[in-house]
Amino acid sequence: MPLHSIDAARLTGRIRELGEIGRDPQGQLTRLAGSDNDRAGRDRLVAWIKMAGLDVAVDRIGNVFGIWRDTGNSGEAPIMLGSHIDTVINAGIYDGCYGVIAALEVIETLKERGVTPARPIVVAAFTNEEGVRFAPDMLGSLVYAGGLSVETALATVGTDGAVLGEELARIGYAGTVEPGFLKPHAYIELHIEQGPVLEREGTAIGAVENLQGISWQRVTIDGVANHAGTTPMAMRCDAGLAAARVGLFLREHIARSNALSVATIGTMCFEPDAINVIPSRAVFTVDLRDPDEDRLQALETVLADFLVRIGEEEGVEISVERLARFQPVAFDQGIVAAIEASAHARGLKSRRMTSGAGHDAQMIARIAPTAMIFVPSRDGISHNPREHTDPDDLIAGADVLLDVVERMVGSR
Ligand code: GLV
Ligand code: MN
Ligand code: MN
Repeated sequence: MPLHSIDAARLTGRIRELGEIGRDPQGQLTRLAGSDNDRAGRDRLVAWIKMAGLDVAVDRIGNVFGIWRDTGNSGEAPIMLGSHIDTVINAGIYDGCYGVIAALEVIETLKERGVTPARPIVVAAFTNEEGVRFAPDMLGSLVYAGGLSVETALATVGTDGAVLGEELARIGYAGTVEPGFLKPHAYIELHIEQGPVLEREGTAIGAVENLQGISWQRVTIDGVANHAGTTPMAMRCDAGLAAARVGLFLREHIARSNALSVATIGTMCFEPDAINVIPSRAVFTVDLRDPDEDRLQALETVLADFLVRIGEEEGVEISVERLARFQPVAFDQGIVAAIEASAHARGLKSRRMTSGAGHDAQMIARIAPTAMIFVPSRDGISHNPREHTDPDDLIAGADVLLDVVERMVGSR
């Protein structure tokens, strides 16, 4: 089969264009799920989907689909490609957007070449992958895969008090189609690695064969506010100090246990949040991840035991709320092998790898054979405006996706 290529200028131009939507006056890019900026990004995507001549569908949780089908293949289960276009706060332009735009690019390339696929091909942009405003993350794909009811998901209250269902209606993306309405024959997600492995090794393509488990918790510590100058250290019930001890403990515990686990305290708020008042309350999130379910469970237990211990030692009350919990996922070996074969055929160095980040693919894997393709991230940086992938790497990844899809979909 001769090797074709996607339209490189269209791919990279659209990534840059979407990356300009949702910048504040300081130039920071933020498109949180259900926000006005999310609407603007979605509107641009839908315009591109329509320009490509695809059918647009929006489901009840706001997932957006561009469907390429015709009368000759509409009875077949589709190949689904996609990712997300919501972002973290002060984001880069590639996370998620690359996978959605490249998916559309693959479809347009096949269309323009006059290919008549044996199955429909669908581009999907899932709602609230990042989970920054509404927990859990990967919410749209989780609902799509039947892991959470639409009603519960729509009632989710965000960090700003907004309700997801109301926000989707407000921005015009509360669709009518039932999530799960298309059961994919296969799902493939192209994404930047967001870590340092591929760049460090000089490898162009990651064939992602599994994804680590994720545990999100919100911890609330209640102590006693008191005067910072007059209260002897031994007489304090300091919620802030107790919270700080948790971060330090997790870091030291993981270093001691030599595990692949990672732990992050990404948000922390104190009350009353004043320079000369001992904090009466600390509220913070804990993100724990490990590719091994038993180890992740063990880490959760170690944290729970430590919280009991510091409750006693610091004289504080501690409560914990679970925000998200997803087990590690193994992807489809057949698709992983097809990714490797396609990379090889293009003379691109590839390696199998584990995803450290969460992705919609881990949810869709519940209902369809699934795998992911990674491309290098400069300096392994992501969730940061410095996120960057060289155009050649972006193009190579999209070409591999094109080849895998063309092989898997078959023609009539
Ligand atoms: C999603 O970006 C995650 O891994 O947190
Ligand atoms: Mn992503
Ligand atoms: Mn992300």
